Amino acid sequence: MKNRIYIETYGCQMNLADTELVQGILNNNGYTISKDADNADVILLNTCSVRDNAEQKIYHRLDHLKKFKKERSGAVIGILGCMAERLRRNLIEEKKIVDLVVGPDEYRRLPELLDVAFGGEKGIGVKLSRTETYDDITPYREDGLSAWISAMRGCDKFCTFCVVPFTRGRERSRSLLSIIEEIEKLSSRGFREVTLLGQNVNSYNDNGKDFADLLASAAEVDRSIRIRFTTSHPQDLSDKLLHTIAGHSNICNYIHLPVQSGSNRILSLMNRTYTVEHYLELIDKARKIIPGVSFSTDIISGFPTETIEDHLLTLDVMQKVRYDGAYMFKYSPREGTKAYQMNDDVPEETKSKRLNEIIEIQQRISNEINQSLIGTEEIILIEGESKKSELFYAGRTDTNKVVVFRKNENVKEGDYALIKINRATSATLFGDFISRTNL
Ligand code: 5AD
Ligand code: SF4
Repeated sequence: MKNRIYIETYGCQMNLADTELVQGILNNNGYTISKDADNADVILLNTCSVRDNAEQKIYHRLDHLKKFKKERSGAVIGILGCMAERLRRNLIEEKKIVDLVVGPDEYRRLPELLDVAFGGEKGIGVKLSRTETYDDITPYREDGLSAWISAMRGCDKFCTFCVVPFTRGRERSRSLLSIIEEIEKLSSRGFREVTLLGQNVNSYNDNGKDFADLLASAAEVDRSIRIRFTTSHPQDLSDKLLHTIAGHSNICNYIHLPVQSGSNRILSLMNRTYTVEHYLELIDKARKIIPGVSFSTDIISGFPTETIEDHLLTLDVMQKVRYDGAYMFKYSPREGTKAYQMNDDVPEETKSKRLNEIIEIQQRISNEINQSLIGTEEIILIEGESKKSELFYAGRTDTNKVVVFRKNENVKEGDYALIKINRATSATLFGDFISRTNL
């Protein structure tokens, strides 16, 4: 029987969560999950369309898989996720080896569409839904410490550069109850960290229960489980939410709050619906309400019409906020978005040069922040051996920084430990073990 399935995941954390969902659906329908492509009957790529280079990576991978398909003529090759939604039937016409194209809201139909593909036809499911949340489906997860939970799907923000509202459709929330039940199950399996996901997680709404309500309930399931969440939009980050984070020791003091640009003119062209002044006030307020809170951000360089002055304003906002971390990108025009109609007029070299300056500033700031932590004591969740040496453990602070310390018999993977930081680079903190601890 042809039932071994292998999935490769590209792009954001939402896709990682969706891959587990797809594995859950297929596992319930008699498929087994394979860890490598070599002996799989079905190879699925869960794809990302957010920038052109993400799509190019998938095209290369498909070219690679062509040989594989020739060798194993029966194997089904399929595209899931954002590229499936964006490119639809074109993918099948252009890339003859693709047998299956299934967008983010049609995963329930995968067993049926796979049967179509095994029968020699093309399996296509690309309708978006206003209601699908897969609320009743248990994702297939290996045992571990850290789990993703998708709390909502889609996005209604329509930032002018972004393809997500077109590939993932309208916002819709899962029920609070089913999310809590999922956390309860994870707790009994020994998980120690849950990240609640949504493209714009702060607009979560289950019949009047908002994201702060969800976070509070999630935190109360098991006090030894850390709760993280991403992504927040500056427009929807409420005072109630900030107080909820401050009020629970197991909700991480870490907010991913993409600014995208430091120029109000560009922010307006991006339809980001806030000004830099409003954004900075929000950061100040959050720092007052949640002492020690840290921030990360997303930044785009070279949006249409961006001048050197706009760019300098972006560097300026980075220096004002002093982010702990940043995801930094060159603007990439996406067909179908509003910005696609604007002239992509910032030359490639200028985009790269500005991006490099942005990266440099961020590295300097991350390093300075990390150096300032030398001498402090941090609670970390021990995630496992350090990548570089089996004599050391690595874990994370609640502000998401990696901390490395020498192993000892008082603690093991999955424990919380108090560490005194004694050395730092821009990426990693090093320290001495003080004691095992609770959150
Ligand atoms: N070009 C470059 N970066 C983009 N992002 C989204 N769309 C684009 C695009 N067209 C970035 C944004 C967003 C992050 C997930 O990806 O910064 O916050
Ligand atoms: Fe894209 Fe903006 Fe929605 Fe984020 S908030 S997914 S950048 S449209």
